[in-house]
Formats: sequence, C-alpha cells, structure tokens
Amino acid sequence: MPKDYIEPLNKENISLKENFCTVENEDEFDYFKIYLDNNGLLDNKQGIAKTWIYIIEDDDGNRTMAGFYAIRCSSLIMDIGSKEKIGEPAIEIVELAVHRDYRYQGIGTRMMQDIIATAFELKDKYLGVKHLVVCAKKSAKDYYKDKFKFSELPGHKQIPRNGDNIECIGMSLSLRLMD
Ligand SMILES: CC(C)(COP(=O)(O)OP(=O)(O)OC[C@H]1O[C@@H](n2cnc3c(N)ncnc32)[C@H](O)[C@@H]1OP(=O)(O)O)[C@@H](O)C(=O)NCCC(=O)NCCS
Repeated sequence: MPKDYIEPLNKENISLKENFCTVENEDEFDYFKIYLDNNGLLDNKQGIAKTWIYIIEDDDGNRTMAGFYAIRCSSLIMDIGSKEKIGEPAIEIVELAVHRDYRYQGIGTRMMQDIIATAFELKDKYLGVKHLVVCAKKSAKDYYKDKFKFSELPGHKQIPRNGDNIECIGMSLSLRLMD
C-alpha cells in the first residue's frame, strides 16, 4: 500500500524537489523552483521559516514530493489610533503548494490540518500564539476563506510584509475561536 506523510525539508530529502519542480507545474514552475532552491534550507538555517514536504511513498520505497509548506513566527498588527500599533502573536503560512498532478485530492487540506495542529501545539504547550495568518495569492483567497474560515484583514490590521509577500491579501484565523 502506498503511504503518505509529512516531514521537514532537509539535506537528505532536498533532491525530491527536482520531481516537484517539473515543467508540468507550468505557471508556478519558476516560483516553486526558486523558493525550494534558494529559501527551503537557508530560511530554516537562518530562522526565517521552516519548510515541510508532503511525501507519497510507493510499495517499492520510491518517494515523490507532492506538496510543501513553510511556516514562521509572525504577528497580527493593529492600528489603535494616534499612530500607535499593537501586535498579537501569530504563526504565518509563508508557502503552501501542491503539485499540479496531485491537486484536488485533499493534500492541501492535510497540510493545512498539520499547520493548524502545530499552531495549537505551540499555543497549548510552548508559547503564546493567538492567530494563524497568511498573505494569500488572489487565486487562493477563497481556498483559505471557504475551506478554513480565514477572514480578510480589515484596513486597521496587517501582517508584517517583506519582499516576498507584498502583493497579496492579508488573512487571519483566530485560534481562540477554534477551541
Ligand atoms: C491552493 C492549493 C494549495 C489547494 O491544494 P489542493 O490539495 O488542491 O486542495 P484540497 O484537495 O485540499 O481541497 C480541494 C478543495 O478546495 C477547493 N479549492 C482548491 N483550490 C482552490 C482555490 N484556489 N480557490 C478556492 N477553492 C479552491 C476545491 O474546489 C475543493 O473544494 P471541495 O472540498 O469543496 O471539493 C493548490 O491548488 C495549490 O498549490 N495552488 C497553487 C499555489 C497556491 O496558490 N498556494 C497558496 C498560496 S498563498
């Protein structure tokens, strides 16, 4: 029986990205390849984000990377008037992607469930975290909204931006509401 599981991206399994970065992945080909080549391991080393990969393993032990995600510590920043801002602790989904050949099979959902479980584990056992946030691509906004009940951030709320997530839609999910 083939099996599937999620494990951290590391030096031993990074070669599986070659399978993920195939031309069949079309529009996202360049972006995914660049992210996995340049950021995957380095961001982890530098404490910027941790990348996890979704593996499908066949009966002969051949492993295929069908998806990946990256998460990091972040915050939900709120304007509270007269130029003052406060920040509440959050975990940010930096990347979430499923190979085109494996979409609509629940793999994105499995990875999201893993991310949500991690956020709750951190919150319950290790540190304060109140929100799950994402800077969503326009095309993925409804995925987060309809399937996972994320809300678009109103004008007075934002998540920290950097070079990678400027052109996207800030969204959040309150972990308190899910208790
Ligand atoms: C968005 C993505 C991760 C979804 O992964 P997936 O494994 O195909 O999704 P799942 O199988 O878990 O979920 C399928 C369900 O989500 C819905 N869905 C999938 N992609 C969607 C999208 N972009 N917008 C709205 N709904 C979407 C499907 O209609 C289906 O709905 P149903 O459960 O009611 O039948 C995948 O399409 C992807 O990698 N897209 C390109 C990268 C991307 O946009 N990532 C998000 C960046 S912020």
